Amino acid sequence: MTTTYFLLFITILLHSCHTLTGADDFVRPINRSLLGLNKEERVSHFKFYWHDIVSGKNPTSVQVIPPTNKVNTTTFFGLVNILDNPLTLGPTLSSKLVGRAQGFYASTGQTEVDLLMAMNFVFVDEKYNGSSITILGRNPVFSKTRELAVIGGSGAFRFARGYAQLKTYSVNLKTADAIVEYNIYVIHY
Ligand SMILES: *[C@@H]1O[C@H](CO)[C@@H](O)[C@H](O)[C@H]1NC(C)=O
Ligand SMILES: *[C@@H]1O[C@H](CO)[C@@H](O)[C@H](O)[C@H]1NC(C)=O
Ligand SMILES: *[C@@H]1O[C@H](CO)[C@@H](O)[C@H](O)[C@H]1NC(C)=O
Repeated sequence: MTTTYFLLFITILLHSCHTLTGADDFVRPINRSLLGLNKEERVSHFKFYWHDIVSGKNPTSVQVIPPTNKVNTTTFFGLVNILDNPLTLGPTLSSKLVGRAQGFYASTGQTEVDLLMAMNFVFVDEKYNGSSITILGRNPVFSKTRELAVIGGSGAFRFARGYAQLKTYSVNLKTADAIVEYNIYVIHY
């Protein structure tokens, strides 16, 4: 087993050395139609619900770093949750699954609860199955609407850009589970 991995490692190493030394050009311009960029860009509106399940036996969002006690705040400053949250078409968990949100949020506000959100939304719906959108932004959770940036993507979302608007649909005050409505406006090819 170990030998196999070692041989694989050597093969990959030799292969990458070869491609590195064999390439003449580090960078060169290419015809944009080779990447399908000759098509007109589309604007799409996606709407779905994000389920932050922190309670119960099968949480999808787990605190991996607790808030710091080095500063005196009531904003959970320093907390980090890693998540693999379901995205559903309707607000109930039993409605159609359209994808998953994988990433983390970190509490980065000392005067109010502001989360730094860094997530990949990977879709499972037919046309977008396997394609992902990358989201990064500031989420002041107690504001009525919040906006995060779509900074790129993969598959159908190569070269994507746009933004997501967030609206809390419900929060269970006992369990802290939250359901948030996401409206994403994205420009892509
Ligand atoms: C790029 O490729 C397309 C399709 O092959 C061609 O029609 C076009 O003339 C090319 N453009 C340039 C600048 O070479
Ligand atoms: C934290 O801040 C509050 C309000 O500003 C203050 O009453 C409290 O004494 C502070 N606690 C510590 C441990 O500094
Ligand atoms: C999505 O892709 C996965 C992996 O390629 C495949 O197993 C699955 O059946 C696909 N789902 C749909 C709805 O096309």
